[in-house]
This record gives sequence, C-alpha cells and structure tokens, in this order.
Amino acid sequence: MLETPSVRPSPSSRRDAATGSADCEAGRTAEPLKLAIPPPSEAADQDREWCVVATDAGWKQVRFHDYAAIYEIPGLYERLFCDVLHCDSPRTVVRELANSAGGSLSGYRVLELGAGNGMVGEQLRAHGARDICGLDILPQARAAAERDRPGTYADYVVGDLTRPTPALRQRVLERQFDALVCVAALGFGDIPPQAFRAAFGTVRNGGLVAFNIRDKFLTAGEHSGFSRLVDELQHDGRLEIVRRHEYVHRRATTGAPLNYVAVIAKKQSNGVNRRARN
Ligand SMILES: C[S@@+](CC[C@H](N)C(=O)[O-])C[C@H]1O[C@@H](n2cnc3c(N)ncnc32)[C@H](O)[C@@H]1O
Repeated sequence: MLETPSVRPSPSSRRDAATGSADCEAGRTAEPLKLAIPPPSEAADQDREWCVVATDAGWKQVRFHDYAAIYEIPGLYERLFCDVLHCDSPRTVVRELANSAGGSLSGYRVLELGAGNGMVGEQLRAHGARDICGLDILPQARAAAERDRPGTYADYVVGDLTRPTPALRQRVLERQFDALVCVAALGFGDIPPQAFRAAFGTVRNGGLVAFNIRDKFLTAGEHSGFSRLVDELQHDGRLEIVRRHEYVHRRATTGAPLNYVAVIAKKQSNGVNRRARN
C-alpha cells in the first residue's frame, strides 16, 4: 500500500535571506507533481527507496537512485528531495564552502562533480561563482540542467573520470580549478573513489574541496573506499580538513533522519607526508 506524503514547505523551498536565492525554485512545474511513497512499514535501504509519480501515461514507479528516470520528469527531483524528504544539502555544503572561502566564491573556478540538474550550481552562483564546470556521468543530467537552470554552468561535461575521453581530458582534467564540489554523489555505487581522486587532481595547490557523504562511509573499515581515500590524503598532507559539519541530509521515506557529514578541506599538493617527517 502506498501513501501520499504530507507535503510541508521545506526549509530549502523558502527564500534564502543570506543569498537572495531560492534553491529548488527552478525546475518546478506550475502544478505540484503528484507522487506517493511507501508507508514506513515498507522501509527500504537508502539505495533501494522508491516512489510512484503521476505522469501523462499513468503512475510510474521510480527508484530514488535511478537518476536518469528522475531527471526525465521535470520537477520530480525538486518535489521528491526538497519538498517531501527535506533535503537541504546543496545549500548546506555550498554555504560551508563559501564561509571557508571568506564569504564569497566570486572569481572561483569551480569543478562540480555529479552535478545533476544544477541545484548545487544554482547555489554556487548565488555565492558569486560564475566559472562553474559541471560534470556528470548521465546525459540526462546535463539535459535537465539545461532545461531547468539554463546558463548556470559555463561548461557541463558528460563523462566518466575513470575512463576519460580526449574531450573530457581537455575540458576537465587538463584544467586547474580553485574548488571542487561534490554533493550527494559519493558512496552508494555513485562516484567511485578513483573518479573523486582524478577530480581532486585538478584542484590547484591551496584550493578548496567540499563534499558530503553519509556518516557511515567515513568510518574505518567501510567498503566504499572513501574512508581509506580520505585517510590517505590526510596522512600524506594533501588534504587539510578545515571544517566538518554533521547534519541531516534528508529524511528517509520512513521519516528517519539520514545523517551526513559535510567536509571542507584545503588541498596541499606539496604536503608530502608531513606527519612522517615529524
Ligand atoms: C543525488 S544526485 C546529486 C546531484 C547534485 N549534486 C545535487 O546535489 O542535487 C547524484 C549525481 O551523481 C551522478 N553520478 C553518479 N555516478 C557518477 C560518476 N561516476 N561520475 C559522475 N557523476 C556521477 C549521478 O548521475 C547524479 O546526477
């Protein structure tokens, strides 16, 4: 049995007094989409959650992690994640990044990994960034960003950093960025550690790295490899964590909080094993 969620205005659908922006506003349909989620008794793991959404062809079942299917339905990403599940991560992570950059991202060249339909790009622009390169593995993500938030990205590349094409090398890997941002795209079989490492390589010495990840993926012995990667980069002095913010990324369909960590770090490319030298 399914239940229609009670939809309350989420914090993320209100205007942001600090930036004047309103994430989740772009991309909305004139009439709110009708959707329903399973009752709490049918709880599923985060990577198996699903909903049904009313389309012209009838009700359609969509897994939350089937991003291609979600992006193809205008407004579904915003309706589901912002309104119903109260996700505020694009604003949270970018706000932490901007604070660490001294309040503004003006003049920053930013690489956004796992850019999706542009909600994070919208926040980056609200904080002053203009030279933003989006990167996503799905062509549907770029199409949705162009449909819902045209002009947000100076460039938007579709590709896989673990198998770079000449175009991906030229437009991403051979560039140098002042900041790397990755929101809601690590762990759960999305962006693998090798791809994150390749993106990290494009950040200039002293540049900033901002990402969020479910807390369990940063605990020792977890299987995604992120905890090991972060430990390794910290240990050899290339990643200096400047801010760690624990918060609720969104609600599960049961209403339970999904706890994430937002990490803001500085890249030190010449920091070869400082601890070992001490
Ligand atoms: C939950 S969405 C987050 C989108 C956006 N960052 C946001 O917060 O609204 C995760 C995104 O990561 C992308 N993704 C998954 N694996 C990827 C990979 N290997 N390389 C680049 N993008 C990837 C997905 O296609 C999807 O658009």
